[in-house]
Amino acid sequence: MTLLTPTAKDLSAVQAPYDVDAIRADFPILAEKIHGKPLVYLDNGASAQKSRFMIETVQRAYAHEYANVHRGLHYLSNLATANFERARETVRRFLNARSDAEIIFTRNATEGINLVAQSFGGTHIGEGDEILLTIMEHHSNIVPWYFLRERKGAVLKWAPVSDTGEFLLDEFEKLISPRTKMIAITHMSNVLGTIVPIKEVVRIAHARGIPVLVDGAQGAVHLPVDVQDLDADFYVFTGHKLYGPTGIGVLYGKSEHLETMPPYQGGGEMIGTVTTDRITYAAPPHRFEAGTPAIVQAIGLGAAIDYVEGVGRERIKAHEDALLAYAMDRLGELNWLRIIGRAKDKGGIISFEMEGAHPHDVSTILDRYGVAVRAGTHCAEPLLARFGVTSTARASIAMYNTKDEIDTLVEGLRKARELFA
Ligand SMILES: Cc1ncc(COP(=O)(O)O)c(C=O)c1O
Repeated sequence: MTLLTPTAKDLSAVQAPYDVDAIRADFPILAEKIHGKPLVYLDNGASAQKSRFMIETVQRAYAHEYANVHRGLHYLSNLATANFERARETVRRFLNARSDAEIIFTRNATEGINLVAQSFGGTHIGEGDEILLTIMEHHSNIVPWYFLRERKGAVLKWAPVSDTGEFLLDEFEKLISPRTKMIAITHMSNVLGTIVPIKEVVRIAHARGIPVLVDGAQGAVHLPVDVQDLDADFYVFTGHKLYGPTGIGVLYGKSEHLETMPPYQGGGEMIGTVTTDRITYAAPPHRFEAGTPAIVQAIGLGAAIDYVEGVGRERIKAHEDALLAYAMDRLGELNWLRIIGRAKDKGGIISFEMEGAHPHDVSTILDRYGVAVRAGTHCAEPLLARFGVTSTARASIAMYNTKDEIDTLVEGLRKARELFA
């Protein structure tokens, strides 16, 4: 069978040295003008832009290679199935999981966490049992556990951060008790950029027999991830922040857990057999993928990962780290700007407040200059309350951002300041 989907190898950006202009040329939207100004896209923490390689892969999958997966015996069904399962293998390689059976396709990171909370948590967490989170969590890694508090009487505990947004490993450790049954923790904060030392967290947790779920919605984009090395029990991420399509996410789970977990949803694809009075379930990963999956989105995610790996994850990290350092310096010149989150180990996300101006107004002014940043709660209200704010503006960087764009952001902020001062 011919697999028509191209590989990332022939793309201009997949070359050494790191050539940000070549990368930019691979992302068509970056050539757009907004309000007559070149787009400066700094809202990557919310969702990243898409390479033409990813877009063409999706287009091709619909135009030439489309059918439903797993159930057909005809050519196109076999081709679509091969492409879909190849994407699963790409994700396995990306995370360095042991087997494809540990890779479950979900709609997004949120669904992966809900799946674990309901299926694993519903089985193992009962009244008075504790779930340890951090105060930095996105609502996606709070609300599914909150449901267990409501349903089962579980207790939520919150590990703190310092005033500079540093994760406090000792304080975290002190909150673990004999009742702790789950640690659910972000790899990288979507507000502060703080990177959590997951390997240490897992070592501490496993020494006490506690499983760890890692919310990698930001971490998988900005940090190399090796789930065997991290030894996390569960790791979730979401495709659209990783330059892939919307509607697709991934839950990695250790086989030893997945094999014993009950299904999350019922329907086609997830069963072994169904009779009028008995149902058996398929083995993982299919047990957790009820109904027709997001076929083309998964294939698109595979292409996005191929692109990222083609450029090189370490090289992307080095580029983003240098850009973050530059941005922190440049924004540090503005003494009327309060940056929230200055952890030593920090990824490319900068939240800030401007003296005398609401973040929504700041973001609206920046938009006039073509600069896209996010303003609001960033779905992390407990964290914002910790810092005594109800919203912030947030600039978040990606592999295609440049120093010039940071300069444009700074210029836009100066203009906004003139208006509000
Ligand atoms: C840290 C973190 N976790 C979870 C999510 C949820 O991602 P999704 O909405 O794609 O499920 C986000 C999205 O902003 C995030 O930043």
